[in-house]
Amino acid sequence: METVLQEIEVDKPLYQLFPGMTKQEIVNRALMIRKEAMEKESPHRCVEGLFFLKETLYRNSFNAEAFPKDSLPNLRIFEVGSCFGVALRKLLLDGASRSNIFGIDVSDTFVRLGYQFFDDKASFGDRIRVLNVLADNFFDVVREWAGPEPFDVVIANLVFHCLPDHNDVLAERAYSLLKPGGVLIGQTAAYSKDTDEPFVFGMGPRKAVLHSENSFKKLIRSHGFQTVKVNFNDHPMEKEDIQWMSRHYAFDEKETNGLSLMSFIAMK
Ligand SMILES: C[S@@+](CC[C@H](N)C(=O)[O-])C[C@H]1O[C@@H](n2cnc3c(N)ncnc32)[C@H](O)[C@@H]1O
Repeated sequence: METVLQEIEVDKPLYQLFPGMTKQEIVNRALMIRKEAMEKESPHRCVEGLFFLKETLYRNSFNAEAFPKDSLPNLRIFEVGSCFGVALRKLLLDGASRSNIFGIDVSDTFVRLGYQFFDDKASFGDRIRVLNVLADNFFDVVREWAGPEPFDVVIANLVFHCLPDHNDVLAERAYSLLKPGGVLIGQTAAYSKDTDEPFVFGMGPRKAVLHSENSFKKLIRSHGFQTVKVNFNDHPMEKEDIQWMSRHYAFDEKETNGLSLMSFIAMK
């Protein structure tokens, strides 16, 4: 156990989400929910790689632009693909208002394990619900829950690459959720090739997509966003991440270079 503890990092700011708990207790709980998530859900690198302990939205270089400290309490924030809900809980801690944050995930397992991880069902309530962003009744459900007012920020962190056949729907829905001047922020798997076309890879139903800077900007602009900025340097992919991709998607790393979890921000 000691060896494992030495290897696993827990980002300092995340300790505040586990009041009174030691690093050992946090890591033990993380390993427990990871185990159940891996048994019950299709594989996600962010789960297996414990990204939820070391890499969240606040590391995105556009974070301060999307969430200016002074206006944070008034921002209406919608997150697609919340998974265990680290990003929204951290925003709450930083000053966002509980009644202004709304998260969804298609996996009831991830949503449930999030409440187990943070042990906060009573205080966090139902700020993250089970919903498919692609569902026909998506906007009806969101309007009934969050009201008709548009959002200031939509978060889609590490979600575009999971939905290779539905990037247009995701971009279009994010645009519709936002008010004019609102922003879409997140990260997606990308590579440094100078191409206008995304690279879809994988076998059978399990596919993923790598964007280039150009292909992502083209996608986002085609749905009406006015400006798109990207940054390749916030989260370069580690060797283990690339090996994981090879294992799960028959991914040939020779076909790509400059792999990164590219940060982006787009303004409506
Ligand atoms: C790679 S994980 C990223 C999780 C989290 N946003 C993060 O940054 O660590 C992708 C998440 O998107 C969710 N997801 C995938 N397809 C979805 C869909 N159609 N609707 C809602 N959530 C979806 C998955 O269940 C998973 O939790």
